[in-house]
Amino acid sequence: MSGIAASQGAPFARLLSIASSVPSRVVDNAEMCTYIDSSDEWIQQRTGIAERRWVGEGETVETMALASGRTALERAGIDASELGAVIVSTVTYFHQTPSLAAKLAFQLGTDGAAAFDISAACAGFCYGLAQAESLVRSGAATYVLVIGVEELSRFTDIHDRSTAFLFSDGAGAAVVGPSEVNGMGPVVWGSDGGQYQAITQTAGWSEALADHVTPYIQMDGRAVFKWASGFISEATKQVLDAAGLTPEDLDVFIPHQANNRITDAMLRHLKLPEHVVVARTIKQFGNNSAASVPMAMDQLLTSGEAKSGQTALLIGFGAGLVYAGQVVTLP
Ligand SMILES: CC(C)(COP(=O)(O)OP(=O)(O)OC[C@H]1O[C@@H](n2cnc3c(N)ncnc32)[C@H](O)[C@@H]1OP(=O)(O)O)[C@@H](O)C(=O)NCCC(=O)NCCS
Repeated sequence: MSGIAASQGAPFARLLSIASSVPSRVVDNAEMCTYIDSSDEWIQQRTGIAERRWVGEGETVETMALASGRTALERAGIDASELGAVIVSTVTYFHQTPSLAAKLAFQLGTDGAAAFDISAACAGFCYGLAQAESLVRSGAATYVLVIGVEELSRFTDIHDRSTAFLFSDGAGAAVVGPSEVNGMGPVVWGSDGGQYQAITQTAGWSEALADHVTPYIQMDGRAVFKWASGFISEATKQVLDAAGLTPEDLDVFIPHQANNRITDAMLRHLKLPEHVVVARTIKQFGNNSAASVPMAMDQLLTSGEAKSGQTALLIGFGAGLVYAGQVVTLP
């Protein structure tokens, strides 16, 4: 007996493409201040957000995910039938089951690719990339589509002064595939369920259904700020160490777009050199959770601020609390 055959994958994995889908409705701070007692100056100074995007007529988690997934496939130059897996990260798809990924795998025209959703909030895209890298290197899939998509506007109480101005909608997608040279460093990830209550919902589905209320997102902003500026700054350093790189080796830093002041705290901790391009897409797009890292990457590449082949440090963090990061070569 020869024993059980083991799967054999590619020596390395890399990002083959990135894409995003930006919803049509622009909500600036002036409009936001018609819902909450605030000011453009306060919101910009405390967060860096000037405006955010919410879904417009006919736009949903599904339409945004499909659009970004299609563009990612086109840009990677691969056919949907070559995908071995579709991973969708979202906390705002309205169906607990079946998964959005299974529907998208069909709509995109895959050949029955494996498909599943993950719930890792604002860390979700980086969680998905980590899984994609493992799938490609193990041989479980040759190409993997990773999508981060959110419609947070539906779960945000627009009259809640502590959250309304932060959250937004959007989608980002990447194709991960085999490579002869390494294009993705080791993931550094984890969770702190001791802070489960730091970002949660005002009701679980059972209370929401019984009481006919929307389970809005609620947040202890100060607790999240402290965790992100301290613990996550250090975790980000570990991502760089795990890749065997120093700050001088980096070209681009793409942190989850939660708050410019959190990004500033990370930069002080990491001591990144001047030449490193830092994503600040929160200014136009707010915090769209699982979509924020891929959308920022797409925007930087499209605007020419970042270039294909450059080395980028990614870090996602959010409700759970959970986090994940890796160094990648930009597609
Ligand atoms: C939400 C956040 C911007 C609030 O900023 P903050 O500086 O912590 O604000 P505080 O709640 O301490 O309030 C400070 C002051 O601003 C006021 N304030 C609070 N919300 C306000 C608003 N929307 N507009 C105007 N003023 C506001 C408060 O009343 C308080 O006033 P006071 O000093 O006179 O009492 C900040 O905590 C944050 O960004 N946290 C992280 C959130 C995050 O990134 N979440 C997602 C993670 S994935």
